[in-house]
Amino acid sequence: MNTYKEKIMAAVQKYGTPSYIYDGEKLVDNYFNLRNALPHCVDVFYALKVNPNTSLVKLLRSNGACTEVCSLTEMEIALRAGSVPEDIIFLGPCKKDYELKRAIELGIYALVVESEDELKRISQISKALGKTTNIAIRINPDFSADGSPWKMGGRPTHFGIEEARAVERFGDYLNTDNIHIRGIHVYNGTNILDALSVYKNTKYILGLYEKIRKMYNCTFSMVDVGGGMGIPYFANQSALNIEKFKELMYPLFTAFNYKYPDTRIIMESGRFIIGTAGYYAVSVNNIKVNHGKTFIVTDGGTNHHSAAAGTGRVVRRNFPMENISSDGSIDNLKEYQVSGPLCSPDDILGRNIHLKETKKNDTIVIKYSGAYGSTSSPGLFHSHGFPAEVLSYKNESILIRKKDTAETIMSRHINADLEPIPILEPLKISE
Ligand SMILES: Cc1ncc(COP(=O)(O)O)c(C=O)c1O
Repeated sequence: MNTYKEKIMAAVQKYGTPSYIYDGEKLVDNYFNLRNALPHCVDVFYALKVNPNTSLVKLLRSNGACTEVCSLTEMEIALRAGSVPEDIIFLGPCKKDYELKRAIELGIYALVVESEDELKRISQISKALGKTTNIAIRINPDFSADGSPWKMGGRPTHFGIEEARAVERFGDYLNTDNIHIRGIHVYNGTNILDALSVYKNTKYILGLYEKIRKMYNCTFSMVDVGGGMGIPYFANQSALNIEKFKELMYPLFTAFNYKYPDTRIIMESGRFIIGTAGYYAVSVNNIKVNHGKTFIVTDGGTNHHSAAAGTGRVVRRNFPMENISSDGSIDNLKEYQVSGPLCSPDDILGRNIHLKETKKNDTIVIKYSGAYGSTSSPGLFHSHGFPAEVLSYKNESILIRKKDTAETIMSRHINADLEPIPILEPLKISE
C-alpha cells in the first residue's frame, strides 16, 4: 500500500465514512522532521489538545515524544499511551483541585501555573499531601509572535501571569511553601509559517528566563519556549522552511545549552506534527443545483471538522480537498459547493471549489485534517456523534476510535422520570 489514496480507500472500505484517517508513516516523518531540526538539548512535547487519540499519542511516544496535557483525561491518555510522569507537563487556565491532586501525586515533570491563585492552591494541596511540587510559571509576555493568526500572548488573555507582574513577584513565588519552581513557560501563538518569527519569539523567551534567573539568583532547570510551528492550509501560503528553522534555532539553543547545561529546554508542538498526517473522508450523499450553484451534499461537515468549515474565521478559505473516487479528468474540473449534513447555512466544507466531476457515493477527502479536528467541533449537532478514526500504518487499517452510534449517544442521556405534561385546552376565541 503506497499512495495516500490507497491508504484512505482501504480504510474507508473497512470502516466507512465519515471518518478520520491518519497516515502513521507520515506522522512519524513529521515528528522527525521537527526533531531533527532541533539539537538534542531540546525536548519536543506533543500537545494532546491538538489530537488526543491514544494510539496516535502512543506512536509518537514510541518515537520519543514527551507530552503536554491540559486536563485530567489528557493526562490519563498520555500515561496509557506510554508516557511517564517525568515527561508530562500540565497546563491550562482552569485546573480543578482533583486534577491538581492527581498531577501532584503522580509527580509530573511540571505543573504549569497560570495564576497566583492556582499557585496558592497547588501549595495547599501539596502541603496536605506532604509533597513538594515541581512547577513552572506561565508568563504572558509583553511581546507577541508575528504571523500567528491566534495570539495567546502579548495582549490581554486568560493565559498565564503578565510579564511585569511575574517579574516583580517572582521572589514571592520562589518562597511559596511546598513548591519548587523549575522555570518558566511561554506560549505565544500558533500556526506560524515564518521561521524567523519562531526564532524571535524563542529568543525573547530565553532572554526572559535569563533575566528572571539573574534577578533572583535562582537555579532554574527548565524553560518552555512554546512553539506554534504551522502548516500551509491555503493556496496562498507556503510551508514553514524547516531548513531555515534549523539554521536559526540550532545555534540559538546550542548557545543557551552551553550556558545553562542543566536546563531542560522544551518546545511544544501539535499542528506541525500531526496536521498533514490526518485526512477527513466523507461520502457524497446527493448532488443538486440550487439557485445556480451545484451542491455536493456529504455525510460529514462542521460537526466533525469545524476548522475546514471555517468556523471562527473572518475570511473563510477552503482546505485542500480531493475527490479520490472520480476518474474524471484533471483538465475538466467543475465548480462545486461541498456541504455537510447539518441544517446550518455555514455547514460548507468547500465553497466554489474545483473538483473532478463528482457523482453520488464518491469519496471526498479533506487534507491537512490531523490537527484540531473532531476535538474542536460540535460533534453532537443533530446527534450525529463523532466519527470513527483509523490509523493506516504498516499496510494495515487499524480502528483507533469507534464511531458514535444512536445507542452510545443516547446512553449518556437520562430519561428523567417526570410528571406527565398537562395537555392544555385549546384557547377558544370568541367571535
Ligand atoms: C499552550 C499550548 N501549547 C501547545 C499548543 C499547540 O499548538 P500548535 O498546534 O500550534 O503546535 C497550543 C495551542 O493552542 C497551546 O495553547
